[in-house]
Amino acid sequence: MSTHVGNKRNTIPQIKLMKGRGKIVSLTAYTTPMAQMLDDYVDLIIVGDSTGMVAYGLNSTMSVTLEMMINHGRAVTRGASKACVIVDMPYGSYQESPQQAYRNAAKVMRETQAQGIKLEGGLEMLDTVEFLVQRGIPVMPHIGLMPQHANAQGGFKAQGRSKDDSELLVAQAKAFQGAGAFCLLVEGTFEKAAVAITRAVEIPTIGIGASSECDGQVLVTEDVLGLFSDFRPKFAKRYVDLSSIIKEAFASYEQEVRDGDFPAKEHCF
Ligand code: KIV
Repeated sequence: MSTHVGNKRNTIPQIKLMKGRGKIVSLTAYTTPMAQMLDDYVDLIIVGDSTGMVAYGLNSTMSVTLEMMINHGRAVTRGASKACVIVDMPYGSYQESPQQAYRNAAKVMRETQAQGIKLEGGLEMLDTVEFLVQRGIPVMPHIGLMPQHANAQGGFKAQGRSKDDSELLVAQAKAFQGAGAFCLLVEGTFEKAAVAITRAVEIPTIGIGASSECDGQVLVTEDVLGLFSDFRPKFAKRYVDLSSIIKEAFASYEQEVRDGDFPAKEHCF
């Protein structure tokens, strides 16, 4: 069960305070029913732009729009009443300037009622993170493997292998902490780098393909449930193969309809 207490939603300060006091459990969600099912088990829900690949069949996250993220964010805050909800800023909605980021992040916060936003980037995003935080928008910077930077990073490749690369990630983490970030998402880094980042900052790190030493873990829910197999990174542990179970149900339905066994008397008025 999550560490959530009472009927109130987990807040950003509560998530921040969890560093060193037990692991932060997080998963992604894009819809109301999934958020309802997750709510008792996670501290934090991330409405990720992975929705583009997982739910829309896109081959990257780069065509995801602000409207898509707002609609999914709204669906998730409607479904979850306890977990802290963070919405991803999609590609092109925040990189131009701190002002552009503020305008779009404020729209996300206003229209979804989420507790904060996540954005990808390195030191070039420092001013933006500071600008948003100073204006009351909690920010979770996403560092390491950044799917919106797949072109620049040469695909979905683990980051922080060399000492220099690892040190750069640590420098980014410290700078984002200084800019007021409440938490860091560390994706697809060599384990040593994730450990160094986690030890170097006082804000929690949420790892995905990073290290068990991170202060929390997140996975894409559809990977956990076996509902998405187009792209399966090494770290995406599957806890159940729901897609086989769903296909069995469809096959039974098909058979019963073709045989005239469904609907039965009890399904008819
Ligand atoms: O888009 C996404 O689902 C993410 C996860 C790593 C949380 O960024």
